[in-house]
Amino acid sequence: MGQYTVSTRKNVRILLVGDAGVGKTSLILSLVSEEYPEEVPPRAEEITIPANVTPEQVPTSIVDFSSVEQTEETLGLEINKAHVVCIVYAVDDDDSLDRITSHWLPFIRSKCNASLEGDAETEPETEAAGECLRKPIVLVGNKVDLIDYSTMDSVLAIMEDFPEIESCVECSAKTLHNISEMFYYAQKAVLHPTSPLYMMEDQELTPACKKSLVRIFKICDIDGDNLLNDYELNLFQRRCFNTPLQPQILDEVKAVIQKNVPDGIYNDAVTLKGFLFLHCLFIQRGRNETTWAVLRRFGYNDQLEMCQEYLRPPLKIPPGSSTELSHRGQQFLIAVFERYDRDGDGALSPEEHKMLFSVCPASPWSYSTDIRKSCPINDNGWVTLHGWLCRWTLMTLIDVVKTMEYLAYLGFNVHENDSQLAAIHVTRERRIDLAKRQSSRSVYKCHVIGPNGSGKTGLCRGFLVEEMQKLIGKEFKTNVVHCINSVQVYGQEKHLILRDIDVRHALDPLQPQEVNCDVACLVYDSSNPRSFEYVARIYIKYYAESKIPVMIVGTKCDMDERRQDYLMQPAEFCDKYKLLPPHLFSLKTNKKELYTKLATMAAFPRFQAAWILFYKHRLVQLWESAHLRQFGLIAEEHKLFWRAGLGVAAATMIGFIVLKTLNISGSHSR
Ligand code: GTP
Ligand code: MG
Repeated sequence: MGQYTVSTRKNVRILLVGDAGVGKTSLILSLVSEEYPEEVPPRAEEITIPANVTPEQVPTSIVDFSSVEQTEETLGLEINKAHVVCIVYAVDDDDSLDRITSHWLPFIRSKCNASLEGDAETEPETEAAGECLRKPIVLVGNKVDLIDYSTMDSVLAIMEDFPEIESCVECSAKTLHNISEMFYYAQKAVLHPTSPLYMMEDQELTPACKKSLVRIFKICDIDGDNLLNDYELNLFQRRCFNTPLQPQILDEVKAVIQKNVPDGIYNDAVTLKGFLFLHCLFIQRGRNETTWAVLRRFGYNDQLEMCQEYLRPPLKIPPGSSTELSHRGQQFLIAVFERYDRDGDGALSPEEHKMLFSVCPASPWSYSTDIRKSCPINDNGWVTLHGWLCRWTLMTLIDVVKTMEYLAYLGFNVHENDSQLAAIHVTRERRIDLAKRQSSRSVYKCHVIGPNGSGKTGLCRGFLVEEMQKLIGKEFKTNVVHCINSVQVYGQEKHLILRDIDVRHALDPLQPQEVNCDVACLVYDSSNPRSFEYVARIYIKYYAESKIPVMIVGTKCDMDERRQDYLMQPAEFCDKYKLLPPHLFSLKTNKKELYTKLATMAAFPRFQAAWILFYKHRLVQLWESAHLRQFGLIAEEHKLFWRAGLGVAAATMIGFIVLKTLNISGSHSR
């Protein structure tokens, strides 16, 4: 089974209580020695069974209780330390059965409540504190060798009244009947508890369980028709249990659903209702571990929350490296997009976008104020596949943790049978790029800096639209600071992120994170004589000594160019500092080469010669064919690896097969 299908609990502590003489000590010794001990001490020593010999592969301690040797106070402490309590009665002794309700269950509840109150005042959270109110209980009827009837009916009635009872079992220490089962149930009550999944009183799944299963259903519904067909069920089965689903079993499962909930099957496929019913049935038949295995495979912890390790696996990013989507990450996101682009128009409408993120707690960005303003959209204002990948690329660079979280919510880990780390590519360190004067990255960050009103936002937005003229005169009131699109640099697609650095006051210093980027675009308004001074100051103060490539851009060049009130004119300034001559830009002329230029500078840091060659002589062809290949600038093809499947068929719980419930005689489990 996969890495996430097991409980996170590292050990299990089982306590046996019950009246004197019911056989607690005998049960423990029978389990350990596999034979019935004629003579037993009042109390067995605490034993710990190593993980590899327990059915759930978890080290398990078994603790005996003896009223002769121990006080009530010690018992209270033991109850709190235990993860599960087995209340033992003797099937031939009605008094011991009655005492379950008259004494033991209320006593255990009172001890747990007392400990909770105590905890609040004295110590902070203990491991047991949170779960105390619902300490799981297993009822154990010992000495079945002495009778020829069953006490199950009375016990089932007790179970109705006490939801903390997870299961019950009849056994005999003497004949060893159901002994290992009894300890297995106890272990299971801890590792695969019923109460987070199922409300006994209402005979229904808990809201949290239902919510999680709805998400799982949606993720597994690959073609998005709200049904799980045979193919999807098979894939689901393989992902959760690493085994294929036998066609005959699949038919049986569908027949069971059809019989119980007629609208659980539609067009020979399982509906959401049918899927939920199936899990309800697993639990009712005591096969919680099946539902738990599914939930854990999809990232849920014992509290049915998505666990941290699943959402945010540790990722090492050396300083100077950046994060991009890997080929697999992109393929996954394309598949998700296509699945939710229901009308197949190559764009996500607000409705489709909302549906897509319905398997997440919220959308990672707002549709109207973010995604539509930060990446390319179609004429309807809807995000295209290209825009969609751009937006993810942006998030991956600036907030990779969020990308990993959302990939997990969207089911990447399940689909790829791996963690989201496979979706992320960590680039090599920037200092290596600098030393080699070329970069292997494909996403670059450009900071757009300039005085108020110099046209920064227009320049950024111009990157996203076909016709920049339409932006002239627009007021850009929004908090969106990043715009992303792709450009071709020497025949390769590179993503360029433009970050609009908002300067409120000319004298405000820039923060390091505002300065650091792959290329800086310093913008002045060529029609305003007081505009260049700010740019010159910023350059001298922050960039003259840095290794960051800088481009000076004079905007609004469709208007009359004015002489700048500064000791040098922009062209002289650039000459003096060995910068490329100022690039004159206007939204009116609708020329996109500025963005290519910026991306090229970012891709070839400290390689002025290349930029100048590129721009002055336009020897693109030459560079592409000769030097670039020679320098290895053509990125490596993405290599896809097929992982050899570790086909270890764990012969334990197999999803649907459990419908064929093991019928352990004399036992009943929730
Ligand atoms: P205290 O330690 O006094 O609380 O009792 P206990 O619950 O530990 O019971 P113990 O194991 O000492 O067993 C009490 C008696 O019941 C002994 O004489 C056992 O031999 C007998 N006994 C225990 N289990 C079985 C069983 O499965 N079948 C039969 N027939 N007798 C049993
Ligand atoms: Mg004893």
